[in-house]
Amino acid sequence: MKQPDTETLRRYDLEHVWHPFTQMKDWEAEDPIVIERGQGSYLIDSEGNRYLDGVASVWTNVHGHCRPEINLALKEQLDRLDHSTLLGLTNDRAAILARRLAEITPPGLDKVFYSDNGSTAVEIAIKMAFQYHRHRSGADSGKTRFITFRNAYHGDTIGAVSVGGIDLFHGVFRPLLFPTIQAPSPYCYRCELGGSGDAGCERRCLKELERLMKTHADETAGLVIEPLVQCAGGMIVQPPGFVKKVRELCDRYGILMIADEVAVGFGRTSAMFACEKEGVTPDLMALSKGLTAGYLPLAATLATREIYDAFLGDYGEMKTFFHGHTFTGNPVACTAALASLDLFEKDRLLESLGGKIAYLEERFRGLGRLDHVGDIRHCGMIGGIELVADRENGRPYPWQDRVGVRVCLEARRHGLFLRPLGNVIVVFPPLSISMEELKTLMDGIELSIRAVTG
Ligand SMILES: Cc1ncc(COP(=O)(O)O)c(C=O)c1O
Repeated sequence: MKQPDTETLRRYDLEHVWHPFTQMKDWEAEDPIVIERGQGSYLIDSEGNRYLDGVASVWTNVHGHCRPEINLALKEQLDRLDHSTLLGLTNDRAAILARRLAEITPPGLDKVFYSDNGSTAVEIAIKMAFQYHRHRSGADSGKTRFITFRNAYHGDTIGAVSVGGIDLFHGVFRPLLFPTIQAPSPYCYRCELGGSGDAGCERRCLKELERLMKTHADETAGLVIEPLVQCAGGMIVQPPGFVKKVRELCDRYGILMIADEVAVGFGRTSAMFACEKEGVTPDLMALSKGLTAGYLPLAATLATREIYDAFLGDYGEMKTFFHGHTFTGNPVACTAALASLDLFEKDRLLESLGGKIAYLEERFRGLGRLDHVGDIRHCGMIGGIELVADRENGRPYPWQDRVGVRVCLEARRHGLFLRPLGNVIVVFPPLSISMEELKTLMDGIELSIRAVTG
């Protein structure tokens, strides 16, 4: 088929594609950029314009776009096997990847359950935690509820939304959701408990969390946390020691800890997995996005052997985990994941991040002096720049002003593709970004913030 020209592609899009998280009335008033190619840190549109991918294509890209090593592995795999089910069969790629994930994730996470996106990885963890307690203590175990955090985001399917905590996205669906026990978000800049965020605040959020855990221990199956950073909530970085303390509290009150590393996993925080930075092994862990280096949809929910063992029994005991998706363990997606893990080693990617992180810190210090920058949150290769109408008292810009969106549109004039979270400008480039490209990214962000906030 001949490739249609840009105008035709735009027309097809406007006539047929319904975009995620997008007010389509606004979209219909735009001339959408049509991306046709990717090269390293850049996306290239149908007219040849290049955009530095400042958000790693929704937090997925690790080694740059179209890495020859991953491409080659995929081409070879396509000539061997496209898809085969894990229902009644296994495949070589899924088995090898499971082995490698068990080796590189925090010790004790030995069992891998595949699915195809971050939301399903979290849903699976929730269902496993729920069913685990029934097997341990019987159908009337009572441990059926979940502790979640305000400002949390775990995906858009009904279970994942239930454990989320962003009213803007989730409020409308409330009648469809199962209720959870919500703990305060560790959002120090806007602490809902009136704390200051420094040591003097005595970690009121953790004290409140403990109070909730103690009160609800008998009815709580699990706690769901995005370790180190609540990403979609606005790149909210947790105070040091938070994750470790959550682990201790989960142990104390017999609650399973579910770590959602969908966004922060695979090197993003400078460790391979965020939990490692606080020496924590969760009971269940959800992975996706960077798992295939941003190439293909694949997710994994990892579980400890103790959880897995609770599901073993004679067939008649009905302890089976009745859950599965058609493309579970797809060998092509698993091949991308394996090739990505090889590149982590070949490029010594984690070791290469130190200089980039130091550079980001320096640039963030400079940005922090701008008149309308209220707070900058930073963890590894993740940054969130919160723009405010009034720096003195942190008064936010009214959301109708769409300041974040305007900064990101301005950034296109500097050859960047960015996507904000409300008034927070997100910095989340491919981990492989070069120092020169990182400078281009930060220069463009600074110019765009200055231009829009005047
Ligand atoms: C922490 C976290 N969990 C889950 C998800 C959902 O992943 P998906 O969009 O692949 O369903 C996301 C997506 O951004 C996320 O950031």
